[in-house]
Amino acid sequence: MSHSASPRPATAHRSRDLTGDIRIPGDKSISHRSFMFGGLASGETRITGLLEGEDVINTGRAMQAMGARIKKDGDTWIIQGTGNGCLLKPEAPLDFGNAGTGARLTMGLVGTYDMETTFIGDASLSKRPMGRVLNPLREMGVQVKAAEGDRMPLTLHGPKVAAPITYRVPMASAQVKSAVLLAGLNTPGITTVIEPVMTRDHTEKMLAGFGADLTVETNREGVRHIRIVGQGELKGQTIDVPGDPSSTAFPLMAALLVPGSDVTIRNVLMNPTRTGLILTLQEMGANIDILNARLAGGEDVADLRVRASELKGVSVPPERAPSMIDEYPVLAVAAAFAEGETIMDGLEELRVKESDRLSAVADGLKANGVDCTEGEASLTVRGIPGGKGLGGGTVATHLDHRIAMSFLVMGLAAEKPVTIDDSAMIATSFPEFMDLMAGLGAKIERS
Ligand code: S3P
Repeated sequence: MSHSASPRPATAHRSRDLTGDIRIPGDKSISHRSFMFGGLASGETRITGLLEGEDVINTGRAMQAMGARIKKDGDTWIIQGTGNGCLLKPEAPLDFGNAGTGARLTMGLVGTYDMETTFIGDASLSKRPMGRVLNPLREMGVQVKAAEGDRMPLTLHGPKVAAPITYRVPMASAQVKSAVLLAGLNTPGITTVIEPVMTRDHTEKMLAGFGADLTVETNREGVRHIRIVGQGELKGQTIDVPGDPSSTAFPLMAALLVPGSDVTIRNVLMNPTRTGLILTLQEMGANIDILNARLAGGEDVADLRVRASELKGVSVPPERAPSMIDEYPVLAVAAAFAEGETIMDGLEELRVKESDRLSAVADGLKANGVDCTEGEASLTVRGIPGGKGLGGGTVATHLDHRIAMSFLVMGLAAEKPVTIDDSAMIATSFPEFMDLMAGLGAKIERS
């Protein structure tokens, strides 16, 4: 789905006393995988708490186009899967809209099938590098026809029988790890992924839950060897998707930055591969209480009580980047209100997200009076506690939902309003964002 046809600008104004008790929609990573693995497994999968954002809906449509039956009954999504190895050739190109996760994981899922599958997406997704997934698929015997620079639109055609590989993931990417493991599901023998730096582990955990023969070994240096035995049976499961920590970051940060705020956010996924932002904010002096920490469906979950706080600048260790990779834009906004300097390093992956997030954030900050320095893979922000003089600019969002939401949060705390050139694409990951923020007392107007 492309949003470039009808951009919807929005402006956030300085607000006070955000208060409320809210629930965040389901985690995007787990929601994509729920549709994919449910669509592939034999028998019935039932999902509650699914994120109904455009990205995830596109993944559901792709699974339907390949033979899965999906319907919604009340709050529950019910899927009848095809059975592992039994996906059907889609009649039309699979359109993933804005979603890198949907596109890249599905390339792994169907790439090794002896059939043609074509992948298309919006202007943002068509600019993103796909070679990181196509290269291991080529090693497994998949033929690829792609636009220049291994970009979409692209067509995959698997071999008669795919070859299992051992693949060392060259960058910290859960999408690449996952694509290779999913390709291994339709490949005889053992496919091994070597992961030098741990990234979010939803694929490993959920595949094991669906009955895949998958093992993980971590050596003394922390390098993980993930082995999957191909062509086994997957069986439908019941899944309750916890709240998305990456979406949580926006109301959470608004509550920290807007004076007088006190907000409780319920049912947030606290998987340790996703909690880097909370750790960083605690180091910055944020007042965040982690309440009712519990296990739900094999995942750590908690409620967060967040109160307005005076933040101090910190140096964020680069090795923490994989556990907070989607949160840097909103952390950079918080840094603009912190006392002193915040240094973020190890950010090379930010350049290949829905936009080049490093330059989009630096440009947005500068347009709103923030003193910051963009490096090749780093960002340094010098903050102004209280936000005096900040704001007054318009931010180019480049079809990137996290840039859009980050700068709306900035406008709630800055002295002058902050405008974003488009808010329509927020629906890709967080359709409820505007209503939920308004319910807390945030002043955001959409034109
Ligand atoms: C995701 C992995 C990350 C993250 C994205 C979701 C996933 O991407 O940025 O939002 O669900 O596997 P990379 O694998 O490119 O780091």
